[in-house]
Amino acid sequence: MTSEPTQQQRLAKQQLVTESLLGIDFLPASNNDNIEDKGPVISTSSESGGSGSERAALLAVLQKRVEKEFPLCQSLAEATQPVFGEGDPDARLMFIGEAPGAEEDRTGRPFVGAAGKKLGQMIESMGLAREDVYIANILKARPPENRTPTLEEIEASAPYLREQIKIIQPAAIVTLGNPSTKFILQTKEGITRLRGRWASWEDEDLQVPVMPTFHPAYLLRNYTKETRNQVWSDLQKVMELLGLKTN
Ligand code: URA
Repeated sequence: MTSEPTQQQRLAKQQLVTESLLGIDFLPASNNDNIEDKGPVISTSSESGGSGSERAALLAVLQKRVEKEFPLCQSLAEATQPVFGEGDPDARLMFIGEAPGAEEDRTGRPFVGAAGKKLGQMIESMGLAREDVYIANILKARPPENRTPTLEEIEASAPYLREQIKIIQPAAIVTLGNPSTKFILQTKEGITRLRGRWASWEDEDLQVPVMPTFHPAYLLRNYTKETRNQVWSDLQKVMELLGLKTN
């Protein structure tokens, strides 16, 4: 039987993952020595809206609709299966990417390829696990050749993403890269200008702070100290908002 990791173990792991993600030279000093082992210090679950099981049920109904209506639009007909999204229905933090790739199309799960591994490290560097957050894409099915989603494809998938956000009611959204940032913020401005600045997603009476950052695939292609530093600084702003320990 495996036991739950202690808070100290979680923080030690967070530090290690952060170091490998970001490079040790600009990491904040560790304050692990000061930490008493009192179990989790933060709740990563949303406290607004319905309960976790209500949210899980609503998400399950929505997922069934996506499965029934798959592929949602003619140009996505080559996709193998829908990729709905996954994570804690009660998550306080939601990550939104662009579209499933080959590995996601094969498994039916979001962010499980190379970019997904990097996203996993980003999440762990925040002291969280993948299961603590909710991960979704704008597109619910893989576009042919992984090309950038068309407006028609975005419009076909967007109502489901909107519904996911309204069910989960996260305390913060991190948009990953250009298409998801442009869609969520309804802007033509690019990620380079928008990243690192809080914005807001609004729908009826729901308002969610949005932090745009680089897509993990971009981070992998441009794995420089500068881009790693930028992503880490964006994530730290999210950690501050959620009351997570930043070092
Ligand atoms: N995998 C996903 O699920 N989404 C992306 O945006 C990229 C890779």
